[in-house]
Amino acid sequence: MNRKEWNKLARTFEKNVCDISREETAGQIKRYVARAKIPRQGGVLVDMGCGIGTFILQYGHRFAEIVGVEYASDIIARAKKRCAKVTGVTWHTAGVEAAGKRIGPRADLTVCMNVITVPNAAKRKAMWDGIAAVTKRGGHALVVVASLEAEQMIGKLLGEEPGGHCNGLVDHDGALQKHFTRAELSEDFSCAGFSVKKIGKAFYPWSKEGLRPTPKLRANPPWDWVALAERV
Ligand SMILES: C[S@@+](CC[C@H](N)C(=O)[O-])C[C@H]1O[C@@H](n2cnc3c(N)ncnc32)[C@H](O)[C@@H]1O
Repeated sequence: MNRKEWNKLARTFEKNVCDISREETAGQIKRYVARAKIPRQGGVLVDMGCGIGTFILQYGHRFAEIVGVEYASDIIARAKKRCAKVTGVTWHTAGVEAAGKRIGPRADLTVCMNVITVPNAAKRKAMWDGIAAVTKRGGHALVVVASLEAEQMIGKLLGEEPGGHCNGLVDHDGALQKHFTRAELSEDFSCAGFSVKKIGKAFYPWSKEGLRPTPKLRANPPWDWVALAERV
């Protein structure tokens, strides 16, 4: 999806987009944030592709300074309104690829959740580089990506033919979206200059896949990969 298409979702974001820090069902994001060693004072958070600001609303109080980066102007406008009471926030209507030049390597915690989705590998690399460019050495980055293994599990449960996901590209309502294997996520994170600490599953409800859960589906919830890594 491009910036224009994201903007069209601004008003219906909660309904049509998986806002993982609000929607995940097993408290995984909270556990990963707790492991990130945020300084007691003066901590800096950079949220890359912040959407309507849900992570900032939930965790912003732990930081002295927060930077929200989001390229869709109608979406960042909603984030600004929703986070009006959070102190110390600066907003950039910009791409994550170029954020390093504006912000510099200042983040104790950089988050980038469900933003690295573009099919083009060079564009994804530019996004990983953007994450590295805003994260200070010894700081952490928390990244959430769509899981290819989860996509394969969903297909199996629904009795679909296996395969058809060339290079992890999955057709979602006519738009190709990159899905990562666990190993690929680890490799991309490492190549961007991080030491990966932990990768796990952030489960979300079946309703986000447009399905009503049967007991069998309820026992096998879909998930995104969540990864925490330290900038080296
Ligand atoms: C699936 S939403 C996730 C929003 C938020 N991170 C969350 O977890 O709720 C993806 C967001 O990333 C933004 N986005 C996608 N590509 C971007 C880019 N290259 N630079 C900045 N923002 C981007 C979209 O506009 C959208 O708001």
